[in-house]
Amino acid sequence: MAHLKAPIARPVKQSYDVIVIGAGAAGMMCAATAGQRGRKVLLVDHAEKLAEKIRISGGGRCNFTNRRVAADNYICRNPHFVRSALSRYTAADFIELVQRHGIDFHERDWGQLFCDDSAQQIIDMLQAECSDGGVDWAMPAKVLDVSRTDADSERFIVDTSIGRFSAHSLVIATGGLSIPKIGASPLGYRIAEQFGLAVVAPRPALVPLTLPPETLSRLAPLAGISLEVEAHCRGPVFREAALVTHRGLSGPSILQVSSYWQAQAYEDADWAPVTLDLLPGVDAEAWLLAHAAERTLLANLLSERLPRRFAHAWCELHGWTRPMNEFRHADLRSIAATLSGWALTPSGTQGYAKAEVTLGGVDTHALSSRTMEARAVPGLYFVGEVMDVTGHLGGYNFQWAWSSGVACGQAA
Ligand code: FDA
Repeated sequence: MAHLKAPIARPVKQSYDVIVIGAGAAGMMCAATAGQRGRKVLLVDHAEKLAEKIRISGGGRCNFTNRRVAADNYICRNPHFVRSALSRYTAADFIELVQRHGIDFHERDWGQLFCDDSAQQIIDMLQAECSDGGVDWAMPAKVLDVSRTDADSERFIVDTSIGRFSAHSLVIATGGLSIPKIGASPLGYRIAEQFGLAVVAPRPALVPLTLPPETLSRLAPLAGISLEVEAHCRGPVFREAALVTHRGLSGPSILQVSSYWQAQAYEDADWAPVTLDLLPGVDAEAWLLAHAAERTLLANLLSERLPRRFAHAWCELHGWTRPMNEFRHADLRSIAATLSGWALTPSGTQGYAKAEVTLGGVDTHALSSRTMEARAVPGLYFVGEVMDVTGHLGGYNFQWAWSSGVACGQAA
């Protein structure tokens, strides 16, 4: 498809039906939907470049949705909230849109769908959909203030660096805090608080974990080694790769479980560690006991199923550096239990600079799950990642942007 011109433009009107702040995934989807219903829509964004987060997503190929999307792919303090929007605008609906725009795509593990060519195609598609809806753009434009006229006229006023605009409906689509260098900001949370809505404290999620010095000193020299594990922390079990880094652990299984590790911040209970099964699908106890009489080092035996350098470092970390026949059976049972459930207490995360998403956000208890409108503030809506809805890795965060954007665009 022809590459469209950047939307950087000054709007001609001052009065709109709908103003959307944030021209990312959810904001463009919402603006296009509302515009195509005949609403006069203005999209406002402070970035110089359109939708940078989409452009860098999925390693530049945008994992735009997933074949299997369900409510339990999301973390939200209001667990049923996502159901309505996800069921009314599904992955199949978005796939149909992508096909209509002639974008080729492919499926990877776990139903993840990626563009064959480039994430830019998704940006171009959303921009074209906005054009079809006659959407106006104010970009780049800094938002200076948001206010509401008196209750009788019920209009929102948005003061920006390029002028004052007003609308009956205001949609906040400013995303989360991850990757601040490409335009992430807390404006959406501030606007929610300004209108009396609660915000669940944001935290980096889908993020590499850091390890305490005593563990890191053994593992950091192995940076780059990857192994398949089952990772778990008070939530689902994720069987995917874990990657040793200079600061701790990363890789898909660790990113997935990091969101659940972080989510414990909202509970009163003590923090559970992250647990890794290093030999998924293997009966570790039976395997070790079957080799109990051998003179081979434990680390050498483990090297049959784990990367060799990792097996040796792991045994040194635990002080298990003897041959198999020098361990008592009780020791081997305890080693097997550690192999199947290695409990690690991270020292923290690598923060928003490396996080794919933000956990927490505008508390959905105050929003309509059908329209995304704040119940106590008619005309004020929130869509996408700015809300307390965090998807698993695998295209689920974009699907939430599309589904919540459409739900709102049909109502605003
Ligand atoms: P998004 O962040 O897309 O848009 C927010 C917009 O608001 C931006 O354009 C920003 O400039 C604007 N804005 C912010 N503050 C503003 C202010 N003060 N004034 C005006 N405008 C403001 N998800 C997935 O499903 N599949 C994937 O492959 C990936 N890959 C991926 C890679 C990387 C590196 C990251 C960081 C993230 C992903 N994600 C992902 C997550 C996904 O990108 C994210 O969940 C969606 O982009 C969220 O869409 P939103 O529209 O809510 O926010």
